[in-house]
Amino acid sequence: MRRKLVVGNWKMYGSVAGNDSLLKALGAGVGQGADVAVCVPFPYLYQAQALLSGSAVAWGAQDVSAQGQGAFTGEVSVAMLADFACSYVLIGHSERRTLHAEDDALVVAKVKAALAGGVCPVICVGETLAERDAGQTAAVVVRQLDAVLRGCGVEALDKAVLAYEPVWAIGTGRTASPEQAQEVHALLRGRVATADAEVAAKLRILYGGSVKAANAQALFAQPDIDGGLVGGASLVADEFLAIIAAV
Ligand code: PGA
Repeated sequence: MRRKLVVGNWKMYGSVAGNDSLLKALGAGVGQGADVAVCVPFPYLYQAQALLSGSAVAWGAQDVSAQGQGAFTGEVSVAMLADFACSYVLIGHSERRTLHAEDDALVVAKVKAALAGGVCPVICVGETLAERDAGQTAAVVVRQLDAVLRGCGVEALDKAVLAYEPVWAIGTGRTASPEQAQEVHALLRGRVATADAEVAAKLRILYGGSVKAANAQALFAQPDIDGGLVGGASLVADEFLAIIAAV
């Protein structure tokens, strides 16, 4: 009943010339088998919109301001994302949480802003290696999820996507095993279900962390894994298309 979703996270990679061939290849190569989107750096939203409009590939951003507008130098508002017809925005990616000191409260504020502006938030949660080794995985991801449930209400998840990204698997080539990922996805869905079983049943929970064509199928076959959030492998058209085909 849940349609699979594969989201590319370009991070701070790209150039007008390089994006041109990647976006054209995706626009031409992606069919109707799953929902697909790419989250590109802000300056390339215009290019993504121009090249992907009318294709099966949606686009979005990797962050958004919690503020509506004003004197916030360097920030980008959800209305600006909507101006470029963004469907999705990543919120609380571990690189934002660790490198830019984003805490749960800021994640909640950004989720609220995205929803108010009509852009679907992809809310990222995940534990570090030290936390996993200390047996803290469940406590960490539940704390991150509970902040959103408390701050935004469970109904917010009706219009959002959740992504489980173990920090130790991001960009390391070290993927969570399908069983490790499934265990956390089931935990997250169960937690949402305690607030609203219907929202939980409909909620798409993506796995992220070194997803590649070679491991996508086994991950996506798990009952609570509804697709992927793909970093490095989303920058190579053939590899990203092969991941989408694994759905
Ligand atoms: P990766 O990144 O696929 O390169 O591990 C995933 C992410 O950061 O979303």
